[in-house]
Amino acid sequence: MATIDPRALRDAAGCFATGVTIVTTRDQGGAPVGLTANSFSSVSLDPPLVLWSLAKTSRAAAAFTAASHFAIHVLGGGQQDLAQRFASAVPDRFAGLGQSEGAGGVPVLPGCAVRLECGTWQVIDGGDHHVFIGQVLAIDAPDEPRGSLVFLKGRFHEL
Ligand SMILES: Cc1cc2nc3c(=O)[nH]c(=O)nc-3n(C[C@H](O)[C@H](O)[C@H](O)COP(=O)(O)O)c2cc1C
Repeated sequence: MATIDPRALRDAAGCFATGVTIVTTRDQGGAPVGLTANSFSSVSLDPPLVLWSLAKTSRAAAAFTAASHFAIHVLGGGQQDLAQRFASAVPDRFAGLGQSEGAGGVPVLPGCAVRLECGTWQVIDGGDHHVFIGQVLAIDAPDEPRGSLVFLKGRFHEL
C-alpha cells in the first residue's frame, strides 16, 4: 500500500469546505466538556443519525467515549471567537456563556444556528480518531439565521 503523508491528507481534506460545530457533553464527574469540531456530517434520516470524529489524543476522549449523550451546536456567522475558544487551551471554555441542560443533562449553549441533542448510538474505531454516531433526540434553532461559519484550508469564512 502506498504511504500517504499525513500532512498531504490533512491539506487534501482541508480543500473540502465544512461548517463548524461545538460538541458538548459532561465528564464522569459532571463537569462540562466541549470542543470545536468540523468533522460533523449527517448520516441517516430514519433512524435520525449524525456523526463526528474526535482525536483519541484529545483530553475530551474519556468523557465522550463514556457519555450516553452529547449535543452538537452548528455555529453561525459572527461565532468565530466561540469556535476559537473551544479549540484552545483556555482554563474554562464555558465561562460566562450561560449554558443550560439538554437531553441526558448535557450542557447546551445559547445562540447558535442549530442545535442537535443526541444519544450515543455507536462509537467506532476510526484509526487515530473515535467516530461517534449519535441518534438525534431533539433539534432546536436558538437563533435567527444570520449566515454560516465555514472552515476551508485552515481558515474561517462567513457565508
Ligand atoms: C475549525 C476546527 C475544527 C476542528 N475539528 C475537530 C474535529 O472534528 N475533531 C477533533 O478531534 N478536533 C477538532 N479540532 C480541534 C479541537 O477543537 C481542539 O483544538 C482540540 O480538541 C484541543 O485539544 P483537547 O481536546 O485535548 O483540549 C478542530 C479545531 C478547529 C479550529
